[in-house]
Amino acid sequence: MKIYKYHQSVMLNESIQALNIDPDGTYIDATFGWGGHAQKILEKLNSGGRLIALDQDISAINDAKKNFEDSRLELIHSAFSNLKTLLDERNLCGKINGILMDLGVSSPQLDNPERGFSFNKNAALDMRMNQTTGISALQWLACADEAEIANVIYKFGEEKKSRSIARAIKKYQKTQTIKTTLQLANIISKVVKSKNKHPATRSFQAIRIFINQEITQLSEVLAQTPSILAPKGRLCVLSFHSIEDRVVKQFIQKHTKPSPLPKGLPIVQDTQKTKFKNLGKYFASKEELQHNKRSRSAILRVAQRTKF
Ligand SMILES: C[S@@+](CC[C@H](N)C(=O)[O-])C[C@H]1O[C@@H](n2cnc3c(N)ncnc32)[C@H](O)[C@@H]1O
Repeated sequence: MKIYKYHQSVMLNESIQALNIDPDGTYIDATFGWGGHAQKILEKLNSGGRLIALDQDISAINDAKKNFEDSRLELIHSAFSNLKTLLDERNLCGKINGILMDLGVSSPQLDNPERGFSFNKNAALDMRMNQTTGISALQWLACADEAEIANVIYKFGEEKKSRSIARAIKKYQKTQTIKTTLQLANIISKVVKSKNKHPATRSFQAIRIFINQEITQLSEVLAQTPSILAPKGRLCVLSFHSIEDRVVKQFIQKHTKPSPLPKGLPIVQDTQKTKFKNLGKYFASKEELQHNKRSRSAILRVAQRTKF
C-alpha cells in the first residue's frame, strides 16, 4: 500500500476515534483522496468489515486501484451526492456504521499545476475535481456576467472586494481571454491588498466551490445520512472554511432538536424524536498545527444517529 508522502491527512487520529469503529462494521469514506483516512479505517477493520470509498476525482480512484489491494475495500468514482443511490443498489441503506467526509481538495490536487486550483502555479484555469464532467473555471469566467462573478466571489469567498474584482475581470476580458491561473491571480492582486494571505486566496476558493458545486453537494449528502446510517452510526465531517462548517453545524443542530409539537394536537411521542445526538466539534492538536498547515482551519464535527 503506497500513501502519498506529500498529502498529510488532517486530524487523522481524531477522525478515526470519532468513527468509533466496529471491526465488523461497514463504513463510508466519502472523500477517499489519497487514502490516508481509508488506510487507518482498514487497519481497524477485521475480515468481516467493509469500507466503501468514493471520490469524484478519477485520478484519485485510478491511483487507489493501483495502490490499495484489499478485498474489504470498494472504490467508486462518484460524487458523494449519489451516496444513497449507490447504497440502495447494494442494499446497505440503514446499515452503515460510520461516514467520514474530509471536505475540499487534497494537497496533490492543489499541487498539480495541471489541475488549475493554485494561484501560485501557472496552468490552464480548470478547477474541476471531476474532470470528466461540468465546466471549467476558464469556461465559466468567459460566459458569466459581472454580477454573477461578483456574487460567487462574495458568497463563497466572503470577499469584500468582490464587485471590484468582477469589474476588473470583465475589463481585462475586453482585450484578452483569461486562460490561466496566473492571469486571474494577477488581475485580483491589482484590486486586493492583503498582508497575511495571497490576495487571490478568497476568490480562488470561491470559484472552486462554485465550479464543483461544493455546498450543494454537501447539503445533498447530509440530507441522505439519516436514512443511510444504522442506529448509533457516526457522522464525522471535517471542514476547512466557515461556509461549509456552517452547513454541517446547522444540519446537526436541526436534527438534534426535537421537532416542534403540532399546535392543537394531542402530544404524540413520535414528534419528539431526534435523528442525531451531537457529539461535538474538535480542532487539530497543537502538535499537528505545527507540522500540518492544512489542519489550521480544520473543524471536525461529530454526530451519532439515534436509535429511532
Ligand atoms: C481533503 S481530500 C481527502 C483526503 C483523504 N481523506 C486522505 O486522507 O487522503 C478531499 C477529496 O475529496 C474529493 N471530493 C471532494 N468533494 C467531493 C464530492 N462531492 N464527491 C466525491 N468526492 C469529493 C476530492 O476530489 C478529494 O480527493
